[in-house]
Amino acid sequence: MNNIILKTVQELSEWRLNNQKNISFVPTMGNLHLGHKELIREAKKSNENLILLSIFINPLQFNNKEDLINYPRTINKDIDLAFSAGADAIFIPYEHEIFPKNEKEIKYQKASEDLSKTLCGIYRKGHFDGVCTVVYRLIDIIKPEVIFLGEKDWQQILIIKEMVAKQNIKIEIKSINTQRDIDGVPFSSRNNLLLKSDREKLKLFSSELLHNKQIFNQTKYIDLKKIIKKLTDKDIKIEYLEHVNAFNLKRSTSEMNITMLAGAIICGNTRLIDHVFLMRRDPIIAIDGPAGSGKSTVTKLIAKNLKFIFLDTGAMYRALSWYLLKEKINYENRNELKTFLSNVSIIFKSVEGSKQNVIINNHNVTEKIRTQEISSIVSSIASIKEVREFLVKEQRKIGASGGIVAEGRDIGSKVFPNAELKIFLTATINERAKRRKNELEAMGNGTIDFDKLKNEIEQRDFDDSNRKISPLIKAEDAIEIISDGYTIDQVVEKILGIYFETIPKELLLKNK
Ligand code: PAF
Repeated sequence: MNNIILKTVQELSEWRLNNQKNISFVPTMGNLHLGHKELIREAKKSNENLILLSIFINPLQFNNKEDLINYPRTINKDIDLAFSAGADAIFIPYEHEIFPKNEKEIKYQKASEDLSKTLCGIYRKGHFDGVCTVVYRLIDIIKPEVIFLGEKDWQQILIIKEMVAKQNIKIEIKSINTQRDIDGVPFSSRNNLLLKSDREKLKLFSSELLHNKQIFNQTKYIDLKKIIKKLTDKDIKIEYLEHVNAFNLKRSTSEMNITMLAGAIICGNTRLIDHVFLMRRDPIIAIDGPAGSGKSTVTKLIAKNLKFIFLDTGAMYRALSWYLLKEKINYENRNELKTFLSNVSIIFKSVEGSKQNVIINNHNVTEKIRTQEISSIVSSIASIKEVREFLVKEQRKIGASGGIVAEGRDIGSKVFPNAELKIFLTATINERAKRRKNELEAMGNGTIDFDKLKNEIEQRDFDDSNRKISPLIKAEDAIEIISDGYTIDQVVEKILGIYFETIPKELLLKNK
């Protein structure tokens, strides 16, 4: 079954028909290097799919004829490398197969304007439209389950992701971090066009970026002017050098967490790009949703998997409610409440497994806060302005250096609006009532009346969604997951999958 070379769309379709397996797709323009090899390896590692690599030099993405003519072509070496790395088939189509004369088959794509009006997009007019058009066409022909792309072309990845979402294409996009040679230079097909002196310049450029990443890790600051001067003094021709948000590519501000220092230089006739990712704090995952959506269990498992702190904000509101009751505080009296709050401390203590205890002023209330008595008052206590302000401040303190999965009702919208990943986890009311009933009965609460419980949950939803302060809402940029019909593990896997697809691999790897 190995070593299949396909040259036409017809051959490809027949091969697809004969092998009823999902496809992991690695698109390339040939002149394969160790970066591509790593993509194939990663594709092989991640599932049981057949791996199809394409080699197609896409004329639409060259805004310069010379560049297209000079683009390195090494087809025999490429075939050897792809098969030896583990590809099952290679698609090497003729140009008329991808762009047939009958233009009706080609759906020309327009790259996201916001994402392509910056960095490389400024200097390569039409380039990203060309990339989108060919990637769309290849996906349409191949119908892969997953596509593998290199993060060296991060702007390209963002643009392809945007196109895939806009066109509603069902495909996973997986990426690998920039692969570098021993001298720090990223692998790129265009490196073959460099003279020795040019390679030296590229090396200086890349090492300057890597050096500034180290500086940033300590100072949290990038001095663009200084870097540009340093490089220009070394006779390096910079096309651009920018410090931008890694997801929307807007100029970086101090509020942004994950950013990138990205640039392009010109060596002879060759244009080369490189970048490093920068991160002020570790990532934050915000999981919001109504009662009984399963978010506590899911959040706990995600935190365990990522070795992140698990922040159960609901438990904080419950603990405070319990303490207010215990101390018989008249919380309608705002002065009394404020004085009381100034002496409250809530901490989470990890115990065995993924469990943690909730301690409020030395009282271990882990179990006590799960009673129906607390459930019935927590929503109204959580709607008191002073309570919310106090707890939001405490939550932000816990999350200050990131590395946290927080669950609640206003995490993505209020507590951590800059969270890297926001999930709105919900389930239908029947499903949630069913789960809560099982949970309460398992805790030894006797037989629970389903309809009564359902009404209580409905009331709680209404209170949470309609309170004036921090109501339960889905943050604009949150991804909604309806968990009916899914097991906990499936929901966890889905969220982790989205997380790994969102955060650049360079930042996920240890010893960053
Ligand atoms: O990154 C590349 O090599 C190309 O832009 C791609 C994705 C193969 C499309 O031609």
